[in-house]
Amino acid sequence: MIRKNILKFLDPEKDISILKGTLKPGDVIHYVFDRKSTMNVSENLYRLLPTASPMKNQRHKRCAIVGNSGILLNSSCGSEIDSYDFVIRCNLAPVDEFTADVGHRTNLVTMNPSVVQRAFQDLSSEEWRQRFIRRLQDLSGSVLWIPAFMAKGGEERVEWAIRLILTHTVNVRTAFPSLRLLHAVRGYWLTNQVQIKRPTTGLLMYTMATRFCDEIHLYGFWPFHRDHQGKRVKYHYYDTLTYEFTSRASPHTMPLEFRTLSSLHRQGALRLHTSACS
Ligand code: CTP
Repeated sequence: MIRKNILKFLDPEKDISILKGTLKPGDVIHYVFDRKSTMNVSENLYRLLPTASPMKNQRHKRCAIVGNSGILLNSSCGSEIDSYDFVIRCNLAPVDEFTADVGHRTNLVTMNPSVVQRAFQDLSSEEWRQRFIRRLQDLSGSVLWIPAFMAKGGEERVEWAIRLILTHTVNVRTAFPSLRLLHAVRGYWLTNQVQIKRPTTGLLMYTMATRFCDEIHLYGFWPFHRDHQGKRVKYHYYDTLTYEFTSRASPHTMPLEFRTLSSLHRQGALRLHTSACS
């Protein structure tokens, strides 16, 4: 029922990316959230637009969506996560040093433009550029989903990243979500009485995954300071970003989203994994 309802608002197979034929270099795009600001479609971005949906005809039995909460630390969920047919990760989160807890397998990974700054120091030195390239080379065959047209401020960062992708041997399939995707996802949740300001990457991925996955399992979704036992939980499993920073800067309403996901868990529409794996 949820799958059918979501399909009334969006078609994730199509909306997952703008395709080459629908834009040309030089076209002006209004950002989804800053309608007055625009960006131009660069030659390089155009070259990375797919010619067909990277999720065309894909249907998977069991999918995992891995959020970035510190709840994953010491969870030993790595091998369980790697056993899914399709694994979605968010914001190029590192896996190598955390494999036992988060796994390694990745079929689709998102990259907000802000990641280029936060995790790769704006690619400002050769060392950071190499780190970025190595991270992408580890993703061989995966879809790299870049929401480039959402909010202003990331244009240059996307361009730097794209240039590196084009000039190195990186085997990722890039996708740039359509402008209507966010409105459609938000529209779906608002219609269903979930008053989100701007859906998080995690919620976007769940909404889209309903189209491609029979079963959806969520790991690393825990936007709270403390775990079930009252122990402190880091905001991200891999860095020092704090809840204080994100609540000031973030347009998201993660605890509300979490309540929604919990309710879907109770209905059997997804499975939230918030404890250690055995
Ligand atoms: N998440 C969570 N609890 C946390 C951190 C993250 O539930 N403590 C989920 C959110 O759904 C989030 C996803 O994991 O979208 C990926 O985390 P992150 O990379 O931190 O996303 P943000 O940058 O915070 O948000 P977004 O990319 O959606 O702007």
